[in-house]
Amino acid sequence: MEENKILTSLNTFGIACYAKYFVEIFSVNEIIQLQKKSQFTELPHYILGGGSNILFTGNYDGLIIKVSIKGKEIIKETDEHIFLKIGAGENWHELVAYAINNGWGGVENLSLIPGQVGAAPVQNIGAYGVEVKDVFEELEAINLKTLNTEIFDRKACKFGYRDSVFKKEAKGKYIITAVVLKLNKKHRINAGYGAISKTLNEMGVANPSIADVSRAVIQIRQSKLPDPKKTGNGGSFFKNPVISDAAYQALQANYPDIPGHPVDGQVKLAAAWLIDQCGWKGKRLGNVGVHENQALVLVNYGNGTGTEIKDLATKIMKDVSQKFSIDLEPEINIL
Ligand code: EPU
Repeated sequence: MEENKILTSLNTFGIACYAKYFVEIFSVNEIIQLQKKSQFTELPHYILGGGSNILFTGNYDGLIIKVSIKGKEIIKETDEHIFLKIGAGENWHELVAYAINNGWGGVENLSLIPGQVGAAPVQNIGAYGVEVKDVFEELEAINLKTLNTEIFDRKACKFGYRDSVFKKEAKGKYIITAVVLKLNKKHRINAGYGAISKTLNEMGVANPSIADVSRAVIQIRQSKLPDPKKTGNGGSFFKNPVISDAAYQALQANYPDIPGHPVDGQVKLAAAWLIDQCGWKGKRLGNVGVHENQALVLVNYGNGTGTEIKDLATKIMKDVSQKFSIDLEPEINIL
């Protein structure tokens, strides 16, 4: 257990702030031991993974628990599938690379997403037409009240767009320790997303392998999204809003170019487009700003504070609300 721990390198926004207490755990047993400590029983706690989806707006007056449980193990294999159990503390992109190197498909579209494996199901990470729920089998989580390990299958996780039970009724009540993914030995290439097929064409690839799709995704992400090692950011700051078809048609009457994708009888808008239309793309306010290649990404140019980022987000939300009557919802956890 460390006291007054500086968190700059533990959050991808690179916000300099302190946690009153900090502990890194490497095993399920260490979580059980932690339960007996006063820092756990008497103070608030926050479970940290890769720190890629969190904005600290000040020092954290409690206990930060960083999950670093490692391991990859095949627990079942059939003619078509590999069931791979992965420790929650494994790095997501390293897992993707490992799967591709072994010839196991299903996660190649999710290449280069920052963060850890245990956080992937919490917000059902997704990119380029694939979400983690598409390859998800089950996860193990410790119930912080009973200290029993519970298994959550896909249904119990209640996955939605950037959403799961762990952002709702189960929030703060569990620590996810391992995730089992069902990977494909027989590949189903998913190159339907416009940017992927375009990039594969440019790469001169006609019959893409999972490694080709991964390369294309990496190329697209590197061209649009800032590298958190160089410029602090947390990926998409807001969720893409989902509205009724009627509301979408009403917007289309005024904005014929407004992008929209049908989802379950509703329409998902591109928050980046809405923000862009309000003139925010590439704008800088002091130490923070809106990324020049993707209006959905807020960046810390170096010495920014969480409050500066939050104030910028509030200004953007106000403008989008005034222009389009749409309330943007942050995707990032704001602490
Ligand atoms: N657009 C703009 N201005 C911009 C950027 C985009 O107008 O500055 C418009 C374009 O019309 C584009 C549309 O927005 O067609 C959608 O943009 P893009 O394909 O880049 O994806 P996105 O909807 O902005 C989502 C995810 C990303 C994910 C990409 C690719 C969310 C909140 N974000 O972004 O996820 O990588 O799709 O699948 O769903 C993340 O969650 O951190 C993340 C980066």
